[in-house]
Amino acid sequence: MTPRDPVVGAPVRFVVRPPEGAAPPAEAWTWTLDRSREPGPPERRVLHAVGGVRAFQVLPERPIPIRVGIPSGLQGAPVAWFTVPVGSGGNAAPGAGIGGGSGTGHEHGDAGTLPMAAQHEAMVRTGEAWADLGAALAAEPVDLSRAADALRPVSETARLLPRFSLHKHEEALEEFRGLASDYERRLAALGRAVRSRDAGAARAGWRETDAWACLRCHVKFRFGVVKDLSRFPDLADPPPVPRDAAKEAGRK
Ligand code: HEC
Repeated sequence: MTPRDPVVGAPVRFVVRPPEGAAPPAEAWTWTLDRSREPGPPERRVLHAVGGVRAFQVLPERPIPIRVGIPSGLQGAPVAWFTVPVGSGGNAAPGAGIGGGSGTGHEHGDAGTLPMAAQHEAMVRTGEAWADLGAALAAEPVDLSRAADALRPVSETARLLPRFSLHKHEEALEEFRGLASDYERRLAALGRAVRSRDAGAARAGWRETDAWACLRCHVKFRFGVVKDLSRFPDLADPPPVPRDAAKEAGRK
């Protein structure tokens, strides 16, 4: 996406490539420009074909985050979205925001911190999908295909955590990143349980991740309730992440 530093009054261009091997129908290329904090229906726009990619351009009149989504009709691709915080000049967030939507091949670099709006959206999206995943696993009978669908956006947004900027305990970035990678390992284990259709392990994995990843990280880094997690007896001693038996067998 260019420019990397969108400003009011300057055009913002979006460029998207279809995922490898996907041939989405032309009508799937309608994007929704959701100016969610504004009254009125979201604006729908068609992406124009430019060479091998589709692109469109907007001219923001005011500093608002613009949310762009690709409908799920895009074969094989997850719903992809990103939020572009539009600044008013020098204070625009660096590194225009991209969240989730792997496989769509946006023009962007992965390094650098996320803009605040993208960071916020990532966690909101995680919260929604996580609740859906919990409901799918709690259902009788358990709904493992819905669980697999709900887990996908959770895993996608988890990968963005190392690029968060912290409001609470920014001095402890290394600890935060450690928690983020523990979280990713727990999600991977949960994914294995779901794929192997082990409902018991999947339910346990959801509960453990909820407490030992979401809650533990939030207590310190979202809410700033506690500085030293080891002094919180209930959070001091996490259970080990379930091991990847297949990987270990492969290593022998
Ligand atoms: C490694 C740390 C970490 C992990 C793990 C983590 N979060 Fe968060 N979460 C944060 C931080 C930091 C914030 C505050 C973000 C901000 O203020 O920009 C946050 C905010 C949130 C919010 C509020 C979003 C908003 O801005 O309104 C929700 C909902 C949320 N997280 C859900 C979850 C769920 C569900 C999980 C686990 C499946 C999870 N998070 C795992 C760090 C984490």
